[in-house]
Amino acid sequence: MAEKRAQFGTKIGVLMATVGSAVGLGNIWRFPYECGNGGGAAFLVVYIAFVFLLGVPAICAEFSLGRSSRKGMPLSFRVTDGSRRWDILGYASIIAAFMILAFYAVVAGWTLEYIMDSVTGLFKDTPNSDRHAQFASFVSGWRAVGWALLFLLINALVMTGGVVKGIERVSNILTPLLFLLLIVFSVNSLLMPGAAQGLEFMFKPDFSKLTTEVVLGALGQAFFSLSLGMGCLVTYSSYFSDDTPLVKTAMQISVLDTLVAVMAGVIIFPAVFSFGMSPAEGPTLVFEVLPNIFHNMPGGSFWSFLFFVLLALASLTSIISVSEIVVAFLCDCFGMTRIKATCIVTGISLVTATLCSLSFGSLAELNLFNIFDFLSSNVLLPLGGMGLCVFVGWRMKRSAYLEQMKRESGVPAFVFDYITIGIRFVAPACILTVFIAGLL
Ligand code: PHE
Repeated sequence: MAEKRAQFGTKIGVLMATVGSAVGLGNIWRFPYECGNGGGAAFLVVYIAFVFLLGVPAICAEFSLGRSSRKGMPLSFRVTDGSRRWDILGYASIIAAFMILAFYAVVAGWTLEYIMDSVTGLFKDTPNSDRHAQFASFVSGWRAVGWALLFLLINALVMTGGVVKGIERVSNILTPLLFLLLIVFSVNSLLMPGAAQGLEFMFKPDFSKLTTEVVLGALGQAFFSLSLGMGCLVTYSSYFSDDTPLVKTAMQISVLDTLVAVMAGVIIFPAVFSFGMSPAEGPTLVFEVLPNIFHNMPGGSFWSFLFFVLLALASLTSIISVSEIVVAFLCDCFGMTRIKATCIVTGISLVTATLCSLSFGSLAELNLFNIFDFLSSNVLLPLGGMGLCVFVGWRMKRSAYLEQMKRESGVPAFVFDYITIGIRFVAPACILTVFIAGLL
């Protein structure tokens, strides 16, 4: 091994880095549009149920595997099982990571463009009727490519700082800042005239709206948002210290991640109703509706600047965690230095992100953006997550993973049963359902 394995310096650093991974475009860009499509409150109820039924046990499974083996993907399987039979799961994670890096960088790049637009006052100067055409023309061009590439370079800069100095330091600053901005924004939205209607949409469930599609959408969203199924949390937990509380951290991540998603809804839906827009706008909700809202808001340029800075920062801490899966793999398996590994990951991603971005323009026929999104979220993540739970629940010794979790005090005994049943039965069953539905 080229370098001694790094460890997170502090408990709060562990929490900030793992929450920083979970909280990203998944919460602030994807959750509101999925929730809007799924009819609001009914989606939210099912989503929260999945986070705690499946999410918490699955996070514990990834944590136990990562810390007991002190390895990332795929070595954690190899070291634990003493064979190469499960390596395929690790390689699937690496492929999924590259796919997510590519399209995530593109959407994150859009946030950088919108930060610029906020500064130059473009939202203020463009009438709402032109918004759609303006966004379509931007995403189809080379400007969008440029922003995606810039985002990847910023990511590389943080990555070369190393685990403790880079990720931890950045996350320690960014994550609390993100929460602060979200609170300011929620208050701002709650003062809007459509606040009551927005809150009713978010919090008053109409279960007649629950279709299989909505339920599966909520399951997939829980999965993506918690960074589950591709060994991201296995890799991070391989840097945990021996006494990092796994169950508590899993709980904290789930609660905070859900809180951010709900806050994003509280920010977006009152605004959507205040300006007579549709909550079921789809993936363009944040990028087309919010500028409209900012256009009509007093101090709009200032608020849009803050919002897109927040979104860019949240995306950065998430994309860092995706890159870390591959960087740890290259360091552990090939003895590379972090700098060399980061250069390789960034080099490949620069090419794939360019191809993804051009999927909205000259490469629309191929549409690598959609292919990567579909293959990673609907195929590789569910498959990997199911494999991880099956491996930890059925292949690892029960005493081995329970020993990892039982190192912390103050956790009631029934919690361990809930986690064990979740890892062995509930999570694999739910994930299998998502996988089959994704294929269909
Ligand atoms: N959870 C991140 C988000 O919500 C995305 C992500 C997925 C990060 C998988 C790591 C692994 O944006």
